[in-house]
Amino acid sequence: MKFVFAFLLPLLLYSLTYFAPPGKIEKFDHFWFVLTWPPSFCEENVDRCRPATLNFTIHGLWPTDAEGNTLNTSMQPDANISFINDTSSPLVRNLNDYWPTFCKDRTNEWLWEHEWKKHGCTQAQVEPEDYFEKAVTLITNTISRNILSALIVGGLEPGDSRYQVSGFISVISNITGTGTVMLRCKNETLQELRLCVKDDAFTECSGKKEKNKTLDSCGSQGTYIRFPAPPRLP
Ligand SMILES: *[C@@H]1O[C@H](CO)[C@@H](O)[C@H](O)[C@H]1NC(C)=O
Ligand SMILES: *[C@@H]1O[C@H](CO)[C@@H](O)[C@H](O)[C@H]1NC(C)=O
Ligand SMILES: *[C@@H]1O[C@H](CO)[C@@H](O)[C@H](O)[C@H]1NC(C)=O
Ligand SMILES: *[C@@H]1O[C@H](CO)[C@@H](O)[C@H](O)[C@H]1NC(C)=O
Ligand SMILES: *[C@@H]1O[C@H](CO)[C@@H](O)[C@H](O)[C@H]1NC(C)=O
Ligand SMILES: *[C@@H]1O[C@H](CO)[C@@H](O)[C@H](O)[C@H]1NC(C)=O
Ligand SMILES: *[C@@H]1O[C@H](CO)[C@@H](O)[C@H](O)[C@H]1NC(C)=O
Repeated sequence: MKFVFAFLLPLLLYSLTYFAPPGKIEKFDHFWFVLTWPPSFCEENVDRCRPATLNFTIHGLWPTDAEGNTLNTSMQPDANISFINDTSSPLVRNLNDYWPTFCKDRTNEWLWEHEWKKHGCTQAQVEPEDYFEKAVTLITNTISRNILSALIVGGLEPGDSRYQVSGFISVISNITGTGTVMLRCKNETLQELRLCVKDDAFTECSGKKEKNKTLDSCGSQGTYIRFPAPPRLP
C-alpha cells in the first residue's frame, strides 16, 4: 500500500502539473478592491434602487492570481460567516455604512454573503472576519477617503459634464501613488474603480490581465465619460 502510494503520488502530482492548462494559475496573489459609483448604478437600475449616496462605496474585495484573474475555487467552503447578521457589532455597523447594496429588493447581508461566496472564500489566507475588516480598513483609510475630493479638486465634479478617462486615471493613480487604476464603464458612464491591494497597501496593477483593464469598457484615454450625480429630489 505504502509502495503504491509512494509510486502514485509523484505520478499524480506530475500529471496535474503536466496537464494544467497554461495560464490557469489560480493562486492567490493580491486583491482587487472594487468601489462602486452609486449614482451610476442607480441610473442603470432605476426601478430597484434606493437613493444613491454621493460617495464611492465598496462593491467587493476580490482575490486574484498574479496575472489578475479572479480566483474561482473555494478555499474556505465551510467558513461560518453568521457574524454578518450581528447588527450590534462595530464591524457590521461599518459594513452598513461603507458596503451597502442600493438594490431595494436585497439586504446588505445578502450582498456581503454573496461577495464572500463568490470571491472572499477563494483565498485561504484571510479569515472571514478579517476579510470584511480588511475592506472596511481600506475604505476608511486616507487614500480612499480622499478619492472623491481629489477628483473634485482635479476638476472632475459629479454632475452633467463629461470628463476624459485620462483625467480619472491621473488623479486616482496620483493619490494612490501606484500609477495605476482600473476603471469600468457602461455606456460611457463610470461605474467602478478597481484598485490593487497587496499586503494591506495599494500597489500597481501589473498583472498581464490588469494592464489593459485601465480602460476596461471606458474607451480610450481620450474618451469623455459621464460621472453622474444622483438625480435631484423633486
Ligand atoms: C474565473 O471565472 C471567470 C468567469 O467565469 C473567468 O473570467 C476567469 O478567467 C476565471 N479565473 C480563473 C483563474 O480561471
Ligand atoms: C457559527 O458561529 C456562531 C457564532 O458566531 C455560532 O453561534 C454558530 O453556532 C456557528 N454555526 C456553525 C454551523 O458552526
Ligand atoms: C442571516 O440571517 C438571514 C435571515 O435570518 C438568513 O437567511 C441568513 O442565512 C443569515 N446569514 C448567515 C451568513 O448566517
Ligand atoms: C466619503 O466617504 C469618506 C469615508 O469613506 C468620508 O471620509 C468622506 O468625507 C466622504 N465624502 C463625502 C463627499 O461625503
Ligand atoms: C498629484 O498629487 C500632488 C500632491 O500629492 C498634487 O500636488 C498634484 O496636483 C496631483 N496631480 C494630479 C494630476 O492630481
Ligand atoms: C446611454 O447614455 C445616453 C446618455 O448619455 C442615453 O441617452 C442612452 O439611453 C444610454 N443608453 C443605454 C443603452 O443605456
Ligand atoms: C492591450 O491593448 C492593446 C490595444 O488596446 C493591444 O494591442 C494589446 O494586445 C493588449 N494587450 C493584452 C495583453 O491584452
